[in-house]
Amino acid sequence: MLRIINVVGARPNFMKIAPVIDEMRRRSDRIEPLLVHTGQHYDESMSDSFFEDLDIPRPDINLEIGSGSHSEQTARVMIAFEQVLLQQPADWVVVVGDVNSTMAAAIVAAKLNVRIAHVEAGLRSGDRTMPEEINRVVTDALADLLLTPSRDANENLLREGVASEKISFVGNVMIDTLYRNLEKARRSRVLERLNLRPQQFCAMTLHRPSNVDHPKTLAGIINALEAIGERLPIVFPVHPRTRERLEQFNLTERIQKSLLMIEPLGYLDFLQLYSNSRLVLTDSGGIQEETTVLGIPCLTLRPNTERPITVLEGTNRLVGNTPEVIAREAFAALDRPAGVARVPELWDGHAAARIVDAIEEASR
Ligand code: UD1
Repeated sequence: MLRIINVVGARPNFMKIAPVIDEMRRRSDRIEPLLVHTGQHYDESMSDSFFEDLDIPRPDINLEIGSGSHSEQTARVMIAFEQVLLQQPADWVVVVGDVNSTMAAAIVAAKLNVRIAHVEAGLRSGDRTMPEEINRVVTDALADLLLTPSRDANENLLREGVASEKISFVGNVMIDTLYRNLEKARRSRVLERLNLRPQQFCAMTLHRPSNVDHPKTLAGIINALEAIGERLPIVFPVHPRTRERLEQFNLTERIQKSLLMIEPLGYLDFLQLYSNSRLVLTDSGGIQEETTVLGIPCLTLRPNTERPITVLEGTNRLVGNTPEVIAREAFAALDRPAGVARVPELWDGHAAARIVDAIEEASR
């Protein structure tokens, strides 16, 4: 029997672990999965609603570490997760994505000599000012099994000297969740609730520190949004970090005039929202991938991406955070027909099975 501890902490982890846990439960004659939530995200709208929407079993353990500076948060996860791992012997720790909880759990497992499988390994933006880039580099340096979503990730790892036997190209597990929930999302009434018609609005998310933590940058982005909003309404589910910053910089009133600001949405409502939008503006990682698969034009408000395949093959364009460029690119995107995108290799809805196969294979 393989005992596997799966670790999640923040919103973008939940859709990645859901199909993996499912697959492990299907193999319950051979695998005993445990789910640990670090509690990095704790609001109903940032955490609980995803467990409900995605039918993820309740976490066996919640470390309840909450918010804090990067070091505080990482340290608290490490201290609490070490106790878990000391009390619960495990063959593997599975970590997903690139949030602080991912890296913290990986360090703990490595120190206790428990094997680590990293789902979504090998992505690199090349930008170490981004906290997630540090998390990716550290987690991959420690992982025993590196499960990659795209071939560029394999190349990044090989370039960094990772042994090829440790790398397995399994495809994109977020897309498993997307395909599984498309039909269910169609039952969401979010469009009616917000009085929106398909293709007659833009959807936006914004929460990266580089975009929202500096008043000048944030005010500049709002300038661009005001111009775009005159052409097509923009719906903006607001991340708690962004809400705090808007208040702090006295920008809430201004932004409310040109955007439809709403609370963060659950997985199904958000899927229904952006899949019916004409254009997505975002600085998220996962949304670049989801829009690519659905063929929705996406502008990413960042200078770089760890997911270059969404630009090379998909519908994504990097536009940075200069107001003129954002507005110009948005108008250009609205003027072109949506076009057809290619769905990248192995983004086929079966990544979770390949992930669990790879873990079982590596355990032999
Ligand atoms: C984290 C991830 C980021 C991911 C994002 C998705 C890291 C370094 N960053 O960023 O990669 O894209 O999650 O949301 O791990 N807050 C709440 N309630 C919550 C969670 C957060 O109010 O449930 C507020 C707190 O004020 C907190 C702030 O949001 O200080 C930031 O939360 P944190 O988890 O530190 O980082 P995110 O910006 O959410």
